[in-house]
Amino acid sequence: MRGKLVAGNWKMNGGLASNRALLDALLPAVAGLDGVGCVVCAPYPYLAQVQGLLQGSNLAWGAQDVCQFDNGAYTGEVSAAMLIDFGCRYAIVGHSERRALFGDTDDVVAAKYQAACRAGLTPILCLGETLVERESGVTEAVVARQLDAVVKVVGMTGLAKGVVAYEPVWAIGTGRTATPEQAQAVHAFVRGCVAASDRVAAGQVPILYGGSVKAANAEQLFAMPDVDGGLIGGAALNAVEFSAICRSAAEAAR
Ligand code: PGA
Repeated sequence: MRGKLVAGNWKMNGGLASNRALLDALLPAVAGLDGVGCVVCAPYPYLAQVQGLLQGSNLAWGAQDVCQFDNGAYTGEVSAAMLIDFGCRYAIVGHSERRALFGDTDDVVAAKYQAACRAGLTPILCLGETLVERESGVTEAVVARQLDAVVKVVGMTGLAKGVVAYEPVWAIGTGRTATPEQAQAVHAFVRGCVAASDRVAAGQVPILYGGSVKAANAEQLFAMPDVDGGLIGGAALNAVEFSAICRSAAEAAR
């Protein structure tokens, strides 16, 4: 059975002092939670700090992106092997902010996914439609296109090694969460796309929901049969909120 997973995406927030305060508060609050994996995805410069603070705990960590190339003349980039050096287990790829603001195309995202797997990281692949796309009825087509680009490169077995996060762009940072039913519908569609060619992979791949998840709505979202946890932005910067979300996932896993 798939366990639940809750990953915090700190985005470009934090600093040495506030990271320490956040993790000092978070560690005891998530210690002993069963049935849920808890992860924080920190900005690159803080991965060493996070590693130092979380080593040996039940809180895993990861990065928010990764370079598609393994090494070489790629100024400003960070490779998957470098992330492994700092104990990362996860790397987010294809976050909508990277797709919209930094030119990450479907093909680039697929290459990043593959690079992460090659180094032994677990990629968290973000998929999701914009408001315009939802309103014009192409949500499934958009999500299928984003998924297919990755499957084309890594196959269904490669997909089963990662995590998918459905994040409707209109719900990210807006306070406007997808209803549990809206999330479930797209999650079931994604799982169905995988099941169409690989039923085993479909049963294995965790599908997280992201977009304005908070303590107050987590329980209902995580109760949906195809929602295996969450990718949390704003609420991941608050130890009380984030740990409550992790607790909701642990309860849903029972
Ligand atoms: P949010 O962000 O929880 O602040 O909406 C989610 C995300 O971008 O991963």
